[in-house]
Amino acid sequence: MRASPIHRMKSIISSEFQPMPESVPVQVAWTPATLRALLDKELPGAEVIVVSNREPYIHNFKGERINVQTPASGVVTALEPVMRACRGTWIAHGHGSADRHTVDEHDRLRVPPRAPTYTLRRVWLTEEEQDGYYYGFANEGLWPLCHVAFVRPTFRESDWASYVRVNQRFADAIVEEAVTDSPVVLIQDYHFALLPRMVREKLPKATLVTFWHIPWPNPEAFGVCPWREEIIDGLLGSTILGFHTRFHCNNFLDGVDRFIESRIDRETSSVVLGGEETLVRSYPISIEWPPAQLIDQAPIAVCRSRVRAGLGLADDIHLGVGVERLDYTKGIPDRLRAINTFFDQHPEWVGRFAFVQAAAPSRSKLPDYDRLQAEVVALAESINARHGREGYQPVHLQLRHHEPDEVFELLRAADVCVVSSLHDGMNLVAKEFVAAREDEHGVLILSSFAGASRDLPEALIINPFDEQGTSDTLHRALLIPEEEQRERMHIMRDQVRDRNVYRWVGQMLLDAARVRSHQRIGDISEQNAEDNQPRYRS
Ligand code: F6P
Repeated sequence: MRASPIHRMKSIISSEFQPMPESVPVQVAWTPATLRALLDKELPGAEVIVVSNREPYIHNFKGERINVQTPASGVVTALEPVMRACRGTWIAHGHGSADRHTVDEHDRLRVPPRAPTYTLRRVWLTEEEQDGYYYGFANEGLWPLCHVAFVRPTFRESDWASYVRVNQRFADAIVEEAVTDSPVVLIQDYHFALLPRMVREKLPKATLVTFWHIPWPNPEAFGVCPWREEIIDGLLGSTILGFHTRFHCNNFLDGVDRFIESRIDRETSSVVLGGEETLVRSYPISIEWPPAQLIDQAPIAVCRSRVRAGLGLADDIHLGVGVERLDYTKGIPDRLRAINTFFDQHPEWVGRFAFVQAAAPSRSKLPDYDRLQAEVVALAESINARHGREGYQPVHLQLRHHEPDEVFELLRAADVCVVSSLHDGMNLVAKEFVAAREDEHGVLILSSFAGASRDLPEALIINPFDEQGTSDTLHRALLIPEEEQRERMHIMRDQVRDRNVYRWVGQMLLDAARVRSHQRIGDISEQNAEDNQPRYRS
């Protein structure tokens, strides 16, 4: 009997995987080497293509010089280390001012810039296409549709037309880049709901693994989308469709049930449409372990002093941090209001606690984001006017892009990290905070509406809509004894280390390998059945 992929995986584990030092022997240490071994053994010869809207490296002109930037994106944070391990091709929208100057005649370049291991293929979009597909349908339609942040989605016929067109452009790019007829394509996020079906039509033998990085709403909420059937049908072109949580998988299956004629198997969590099966699975995303950003970091004590000195704060001040894109789903105004309440109710902390909010301006073309920025600036100013004094500013709002190294320095300097998303697929900042703290100090305050709260229940879990509760939790966080901080952080660090991003993608690739084996067996037995047919003389 042929060994199943799982059995074969076990044999790789015994020969090549290093068990985690202090864990039970069956525990696999997920590393780039693990992933490469998995690819070699489970998917031999398979080419891996990743497609996402956001590119991992953006080239911009700064005067005459060209600068490389790493965007503030969860997708990039998760997939970049994976691609370094898999060495395939990453297809993404090229939108940096110097992007066209850094590619070859096929719009390709080798990355990471310092030690190239994989190919980045850039796809160019016109401003009109970007307005309709990215700002319009993806970010004014699908983004508020899928996040329960009480922002009304906007659906425009012209945005939809642009979304369809751009999905087709990326599907064509995948077909162009594919060297074989059965690549493993990892399709990322809500920008590309139609892509799986489009690619399936051109490359029927491809293994299409789609991951939806944001929540999936219940059918009532999803049902307001005028193109709900098309979106579901597009996604069902996937071999495997992944979400962060089981809850989002169930919402998706309920939506399929409500809007599409198909066969749903709740037992195996799969949908059969037109004879083709899609597995619907949860794969909680994570970060690389240890994060590359830790390599050049100064010791924690140095980070603490450096960050405080940079902000003009005394060395012994307690510091809270928040790090995100400036997005209404992140709950930044709610957090600032809670901080204001905290100072009102605990004046003893005025002068002893300060909060840094790093917020990367994002999608600023859209009115909702513009309004948010104005609100956040006004809130920070009013807290500072109310509670600040000579030589002490309680809230430091940094409205700019922070490079990953800078984010990690901030996280290492903090006593408390606040992740108060109103709704979030996962939220990787929560996991980055944990990974940044080898000293096992610091308290994580985490929204129960972020997927990360399922993985990190040892954080202090809050309802971000509850201002008083958040303020009380901040007070509690500042008083948590060191021993308790250490215990909580220790468990969370184990979780993030063991269930890191290599495991996230490894689980998807293992499932993909299993499906490919099944298909191969199916093809062989069909062929055998044909060969064994009685032949009649004509
Ligand atoms: O949360 C999903 C996600 O794709 C993140 O990776 C990223 O932060 C965001 O949505 C998209 O951001 P942007 O529009 O800046 O690419």
